[in-house]
Amino acid sequence: MTDLPPLYLAPMAEFTTPPMRILCEQHGAQRTYTEMVNAEGICRRSPKTLFLLETFPEERHVWAHLYGHDPARLAEAARIVADMGRFEGIDINAGCPVPRITAQGAGSALLKDLPRLEAIISSVVKAVNLPVSVKTRLGPNPQVPVWQEVLQRMEAAGAASVSLHARYTSQGHAGTVHLETLKAAVEATHLPIFGNGSVVDRASAEAMAATGVKAILIARAALETPSVFSFEHVAPRPLAEAHLALELRYREKACAFSRLTPEEATVLTFRRHLFRYFKGLPGANTLRGNLMNLHSLDDILRAISIF
Ligand SMILES: Cc1cc2nc3c(=O)[nH]c(=O)nc-3n(C[C@H](O)[C@H](O)[C@H](O)COP(=O)(O)O)c2cc1C
Repeated sequence: MTDLPPLYLAPMAEFTTPPMRILCEQHGAQRTYTEMVNAEGICRRSPKTLFLLETFPEERHVWAHLYGHDPARLAEAARIVADMGRFEGIDINAGCPVPRITAQGAGSALLKDLPRLEAIISSVVKAVNLPVSVKTRLGPNPQVPVWQEVLQRMEAAGAASVSLHARYTSQGHAGTVHLETLKAAVEATHLPIFGNGSVVDRASAEAMAATGVKAILIARAALETPSVFSFEHVAPRPLAEAHLALELRYREKACAFSRLTPEEATVLTFRRHLFRYFKGLPGANTLRGNLMNLHSLDDILRAISIF
């Protein structure tokens, strides 16, 4: 068996909250990232935005994952985040293809404005004493493969590492993961490159490890089971129950500004997670069709008990 580099939980908006991060750490993820947090909201100290940066005391290796387009505002946001003392590093998003984000000149829009991306990383690096990384893609589309220039600029800006989702923005989350380009990227820079894209099991992790990446980020497979980080089969029911308990604890922290009770917020959020845990098992489709009828924690526990 090939030795694998460390496996990290990739950032996922609305999903990589403390409950999911803790479960993934417990099952072998050696680093986790917060969901994507708006630098402007941090600078304005919006309670809703700051809530996205809550951590639980038992979390060990969390990085804050920020987005924005103004170098000075991102630097200011990074300073505020660093002062929280909760994070091992700051990660900047330069890969999100969602129009709401790119319309602001952030996320993957930065791949079309590389001097700005360099200015952002440079000013964040200067603003904080934490390592600063970037999560991005190979380029806007296969005709514009900007990854080489990105790596040169990230090295010049003082980035600690670059995570490359080995697809182009135009591919969304589907289609070929360009492992040969990932290998070329590893060879083209002194920066540690972390690989990302459709790693779901040991075989796909080994194929990515063969490119020479220093770490592998896993996203969607972790939504189905946090135990993907140990490649062990863990029964979904105890996982779902543990997740539910953590979710309730997390939502209790949100009471101050949420109009929902912790139980209501937990039920609403958990409906999104529940089906994935049981996907493929007998009864899973019935559960999926029934999600909207789950209104209380007891309803959810009863639905889980079928499995
Ligand atoms: C629901 C969802 C939310 C995501 N949110 C983010 C995000 O906030 N920031 C980011 O850099 N990537 C985000 N991604 C992309 C993932 O981090 C990852 O790059 C992508 O899913 C490919 O990895 P995978 O094949 O392991 O899923 C998101 C992906 C999903 C499925």
